[in-house]
Amino acid sequence: MGSEPKSFQLSESIHRYLLENGGAPDSVGQALIERTRELGRISIMQIAPEQGAFISLLASAIGARRAIEVGTFTGFSALCIARGMGEGGELICCDTSEEWTSLGRPFWEEAGVADRIDLRIAPAIETLRSIEEDAGFDLAFIDADKSSYIAYAEELLRLIRPGGLILVDNVLWFGAVADPEINDERTLQIRAFNEWATAHPRCQNVMLPIGDGLTLIRVL
Ligand SMILES: C[S@@+](CC[C@H](N)C(=O)[O-])C[C@H]1O[C@@H](n2cnc3c(N)ncnc32)[C@H](O)[C@@H]1O
Repeated sequence: MGSEPKSFQLSESIHRYLLENGGAPDSVGQALIERTRELGRISIMQIAPEQGAFISLLASAIGARRAIEVGTFTGFSALCIARGMGEGGELICCDTSEEWTSLGRPFWEEAGVADRIDLRIAPAIETLRSIEEDAGFDLAFIDADKSSYIAYAEELLRLIRPGGLILVDNVLWFGAVADPEINDERTLQIRAFNEWATAHPRCQNVMLPIGDGLTLIRVL
């Protein structure tokens, strides 16, 4: 558990304490975190364990039955959402990587949630556009290519019911968005998304300093 917190505002010891007092991954979640760590630096893409616990709790709290994830990687966030939804929940996962997502499947099976997960390997925007059921979903999580965050959210505003949630990861970009001296392409894309979400009349937002920054959008 713990080591180099992705919640970059926390020290290692505070991060450890926080996990020990709620939200630590169970043995399957921890095994998936450790398996992902074997991939090396790329494992930084995985959400922080406290984010996983929080997203899982949110899915339970709103009684989510149908959800969509944009950016699955090795499947830790999908595991958390699928668990939060409970039996009978349905999660559509969008990713382009067969290689990374296939790492997650045995863990989904071990956790007993594999039958709740419908993995679609294709550019996420194509998958989202192919879903016809307007307002048929309760929850979405965006955690893929930053250049398309606004396009994903626009599509999700059609798919998520009023009162449902869209969660968005990496909105602080390790603090870069708040530094006017930093203006690389990714930082500008995330800043643009944050401004778009703040101004959108159908988005009630709160930005939380958890992991690399997580925005909760309640769809109006
Ligand atoms: C930050 S990782 C997701 C991490 C994951 N949520 C987790 O907690 O483990 C981003 C993922 O988005 C996927 N991705 C990038 N561009 C994509 C696209 N255009 N369509 C679908 N998936 C994409 C990548 O393959 C990668 O697995």
